[in-house]
Amino acid sequence: MGNSLEGQQIVVVGGNSGMGLALCAQLMKMRCEVLIVGRSKDKLEAAREQLCEFGKPRLHQADVTREEEVRRLFEEAGTVDHLVCTAADVRGAYELLPLLELDALDRAIRSKVVAPILLAKHSAQRMPAHGSITLTSGIAAYRPRPKGIAVAAINAALEGAVRAMAVELAPLRINAVSPGWVHTPIWNNVAGADSERLLASMAERLPVGRIGTGDDIADAIVFLLGNGYTTGTVLHVDGGHRLV
Ligand SMILES: NC(=O)c1ccc[n+]([C@@H]2O[C@H](COP(=O)([O-])OP(=O)(O)OC[C@H]3O[C@@H](n4cnc5c(N)ncnc54)[C@H](OP(=O)(O)O)[C@@H]3O)[C@@H](O)[C@H]2O)c1
Repeated sequence: MGNSLEGQQIVVVGGNSGMGLALCAQLMKMRCEVLIVGRSKDKLEAAREQLCEFGKPRLHQADVTREEEVRRLFEEAGTVDHLVCTAADVRGAYELLPLLELDALDRAIRSKVVAPILLAKHSAQRMPAHGSITLTSGIAAYRPRPKGIAVAAINAALEGAVRAMAVELAPLRINAVSPGWVHTPIWNNVAGADSERLLASMAERLPVGRIGTGDDIADAIVFLLGNGYTTGTVLHVDGGHRLV
């Protein structure tokens, strides 16, 4: 049985949408104290509204690619037992190479590689020995498709950082979850109007016969937060996608 998370203070960057929002609901049901971080005030407030049946999470508006905003986040957050980051800004990052703009590549790298490193830099020394950091990689690193070069590289880089952080920041535990295809708003930026068709055809190919849900990934993150013997690990939750 894992460590109890009840009463723990957990920061969820990206908790205003998709799998981060599903995680916040699970954590609040477990009586954790949740602080949700995102850039959009409207999305933060909409998330709090959606979570109201479980309690009232704290909200913090910040762009975690900006070091000053990350520094302020942890100065204002108070005690933090665990940090989770599901943030990603992949607008324009899924493109064939001749069409890939440097701005989009830079934005995606900053949101998924630079931001987690900044978050770890400013939170680790404030966290208790039982603390942990859980980051979000993804299937693109393992089963790349055309238009996937940027995100494949980014996820692989993030996983390298996870292993190095698990060594340098010990006894804090640092892990990543690697989702397969999960039905969330990010698909508006991944494949736009083609999303539903792509997701349906992938569901047919996957051994589990369906696309993932935010709750599938949230379950795995809850495991990583609570299991005191897991660090430097990438936990794949992909419906068997790496096998097909
Ligand atoms: N969904 C999938 O099929 C899938 C598959 C493999 C991997 N993943 C990975 O799983 C993670 C979560 O994805 P999701 O599908 O839950 O995405 P999502 O619904 O788009 O949620 C991501 C959230 O991150 C926040 N965010 C982005 N940039 C930020 C920044 N600079 N500072 C603060 N917050 C920021 C956004 O909120 P604001 O706009 O308010 O900032 C957004 O609500 C991502 O790392 C994604 O790459 C997803």
